[in-house]
Amino acid sequence: MSSFIVNGGKRLSGEAEVQGAKNSALPILAATVLTKGENVLFNCPRLSDVDASLRILRFLGCEAKEQGEAVIVKSDNLSDSEIPERLMREMRGSIVFLGALLARTGRARLSFPGGCELGPRPIDLHLKALRKMGAKISERHGVIECKADKGLRGAKINLSFPSVGATENIILAAALAEGTTTIINAAREPEICDLCDFLNESGAKIYGSGEGVIVIDGVQELSGASHDIIPDRIEAATLMAAAAITAGEITLRGVIRNHLSSIIPLFEEMGCETGFKNGDMSFSAPQKLRAVPLIRTMPYPGFPTDAQALLMAVAAVCGGTTVFAENIFENRFKHVDGLMRLGADIHVQGRVAVVNGVNELYGARVEATDLRGAASLIVAALRAEDKTEVNGIEYLERGYDGLELVLSSLGADVRKL
Ligand code: UD1
Repeated sequence: MSSFIVNGGKRLSGEAEVQGAKNSALPILAATVLTKGENVLFNCPRLSDVDASLRILRFLGCEAKEQGEAVIVKSDNLSDSEIPERLMREMRGSIVFLGALLARTGRARLSFPGGCELGPRPIDLHLKALRKMGAKISERHGVIECKADKGLRGAKINLSFPSVGATENIILAAALAEGTTTIINAAREPEICDLCDFLNESGAKIYGSGEGVIVIDGVQELSGASHDIIPDRIEAATLMAAAAITAGEITLRGVIRNHLSSIIPLFEEMGCETGFKNGDMSFSAPQKLRAVPLIRTMPYPGFPTDAQALLMAVAAVCGGTTVFAENIFENRFKHVDGLMRLGADIHVQGRVAVVNGVNELYGARVEATDLRGAASLIVAALRAEDKTEVNGIEYLERGYDGLELVLSSLGADVRKL
């Protein structure tokens, strides 16, 4: 168990480079299973979830290594189509290997990912789509067994909700399927576009990513590719929240403005100022922030659920009341307990949280229980008087590449124990 010790009250200033996107890196690593030849992934963040993906790839018989700035994967000798439970348990996102393995080998056997710290996380949409593409699927004793002895075939798939994971699994399965697959109501997240860009660089024929309808013409085989992973919009939002709560002034390098189009206006409504020049974003915050009355999480391009906890930490010290409506996950307010221990005034009723801004937060010992919740507690701790100890940093390390170093370089007093 590791923890962060934060001595709050330091105003952030300086420049930081945004890491590669976790939610792009994971499906792209799974996609390398479909390819023959060498894949070179640049800007791949060093995260425990990335390590878990590399361990899965090696277990399957692929060569996967970190070399300098890049991660290199070669899947020519892939020899297995089963992922053991111990590896599946390390990371919920490993479900994205299902579509890739099925497409490459005609078989996949892995354990059911089950619930997680955000509440139940069903995969019914993934399985329904793969069945429509010709897979025979059995679910017994927590194990999912998929077979497509005659290969997968293209299909028209109408998603009842634009699930990110289901869209990715269908794209991976369809890339090598026979015929054309059409996904209606597909997820439009930038990380979906990044996955499709990687696959197209490998020889896939995918059209319309980033729009509600994605069309995939299956091809016979895919080759390796070199690919730059996009910047992580949620890490950018984390650093913006850290600067906002400390009345800071920072520059973030390597930000894609469009990916932050639902986040920037909220910070601006709070009184922050942003400017863009050659892929750098300048961000400055006033001494006293104004509350945004309502923040609702939505599928992209709406405000992302992954940034909800971060904005809540900032809302805790805004002048006025902010109402958060969490529309994506059932149980995503677990950071509230920790924020309240630091002095925040928050009331939760089901999927709604009402945050009444306070003038000050105070250091305390708090427990992180999920990835973005951990980041939210750290953001709040940057503002809190005296010392805060944030435990459960292993959650944070699933998605942030040395956050304590980045924050320290911006002037925060943060150290990892
Ligand atoms: C991905 C992201 C996660 C982000 C989420 C929503 C990765 C590795 N993770 O998670 O960081 O918070 O998108 O933007 O990219 N659902 C079903 N049935 C299904 C699939 C999903 O009911 O078959 C529900 C889920 O329970 C959840 C909602 O749909 O309530 C959103 O899930 P989904 O978009 O699939 O998120 P993930 O891919 O799990």
